[in-house]
Amino acid sequence: MQVEMTVNGERVRGDVEPRTLLVHHLREGLGLTGTNVGCDTSSCGACTVHLDGRSVKSCTVLAVQAEGAEITTIEGLASNGSLHPMQEAFRQNHGLQCGFCTPGMVMAAVSLLEEHPSPTEDEVRHGLEGNLCRCTGYHNIVRSVLAAAETGGAS
Ligand code: FES
Ligand code: FES
Repeated sequence: MQVEMTVNGERVRGDVEPRTLLVHHLREGLGLTGTNVGCDTSSCGACTVHLDGRSVKSCTVLAVQAEGAEITTIEGLASNGSLHPMQEAFRQNHGLQCGFCTPGMVMAAVSLLEEHPSPTEDEVRHGLEGNLCRCTGYHNIVRSVLAAAETGGAS
């Protein structure tokens, strides 16, 4: 069946099976491979994107449920050749670890600051609980989000 949505500002149509997950449509249908699949239990957050401005795990959404929606993926954050402030904060504070968890972590962090522009460290840790990194202590990731909040937040 046909599904149409706006992805990173561009209207796109695609043919999907009814059971196709949004994450697979983004990766395989649209070639946006920055959104990753890290688990099959909706627990890792590697697949996090923004759907109509809210952060969602795209492995828990059917592509057809996103009909008519506005989707932003990690590929859509930078603009005019400049990193998004959150990407810049991750770069400067060594929050960027592997390419697998980082895109989802950045997308979740942007949403977090949209909802809580000046979070405490605890609020950042709580806000990123749905995003797992198997190899770090999260310290630099939390530092990055706090730094982004200080320099103007999510946008
Ligand atoms: S792939 Fe979606 S939460 Fe892990
Ligand atoms: S899973 Fe990506 S740095 Fe740990």
